[in-house]
Amino acid sequence: MSLKTSPKTNTSFKNDVHTGLTAFPKYLYSKYIYDEKGDKLFQDIMNLPEYYLTNCEFNILSLHTTEIAELFSNTETGFDLIELGAGDGKKTKILLRYLADNEFEFVYKPIDISKNAIDSLTNSLATELPRVTVDGEKGMYFEVLERLQKYDSRKKVLMVLGSNIGNLLHPKAIDFLTKLKGIMGPEDLLFMGFDQKKNPQTILDAYNDATGVTAAFNKNLLHRINRELSANFNVDNFKHWEVYDPESGTAKSFLVATEAMEVSIKALDLHINFDIWETIHTEISQKYDDKTVQWLADSAGLTIETSFKDEKGYYKNYVFRRK
Ligand code: AVI
Repeated sequence: MSLKTSPKTNTSFKNDVHTGLTAFPKYLYSKYIYDEKGDKLFQDIMNLPEYYLTNCEFNILSLHTTEIAELFSNTETGFDLIELGAGDGKKTKILLRYLADNEFEFVYKPIDISKNAIDSLTNSLATELPRVTVDGEKGMYFEVLERLQKYDSRKKVLMVLGSNIGNLLHPKAIDFLTKLKGIMGPEDLLFMGFDQKKNPQTILDAYNDATGVTAAFNKNLLHRINRELSANFNVDNFKHWEVYDPESGTAKSFLVATEAMEVSIKALDLHINFDIWETIHTEISQKYDDKTVQWLADSAGLTIETSFKDEKGYYKNYVFRRK
């Protein structure tokens, strides 16, 4: 899942689609990819051989379980482990199993905008790891962050996996980190995944898989506009296109019109013209290095306590503390 603040109402979806498609150049926000179909396609992406991110983070949590658990723990008061965008919890379960087996005192608080995700994660944990106390919550990140202010009676560890921060431009990423810092006490930690710069071909392949799952994921934006806003996009007239700039570390996804066309969006009372080869920019997936993460941390008032990398050095989880 992405840092998807799901559309609060259909109105923000409508407004954003209107603004994005009447802008020059055209754009749409990637958070709108994630309806039910988009969630399924993202699950499929995570199982693709080319999409290395999931396996790398799994590898980090498996290799460094003990060290991570020790960092998180507080032997006197215990701790609250709060995961933003928990999804199916596949990676987190490695850590939860270790914490439960070794009788650490903690409560696991998964947060996701999908009630379905929270319910099925809570159910699967009840059978797989019955000793873990789970207190899940459905909600959007920033709403939940406000509610989390009340978690200040003991150490808390905030966890954001999946390099979800990479879907934000740097200023938004700094805002997000600053908001997280705002609810952290001096003892609290933030554990966050950042996909790293690497061979540009590896990155391009991850976002342009051979079987076309990522293309279908990207095009789901147009299907969604057709479904929810009574539009008539001929989705076959758009090509998924990925570029990666190794200097900035930014991977960008586009939908490119392969012919000139007019599209009508009934719910917006809007007709949009596309020239042949005109683009809609749909997503960024930022790749990082230590210097960039250090700069983001400094800008947000955080310090980096330590970091963990996978065997290939493709991906890192950083541990932050409030400055
Ligand atoms: C959720 N997010 C971190 C994914 C990424 O890698 O940017 C979304 C994604 N887009 C295409 N493939 C995966």
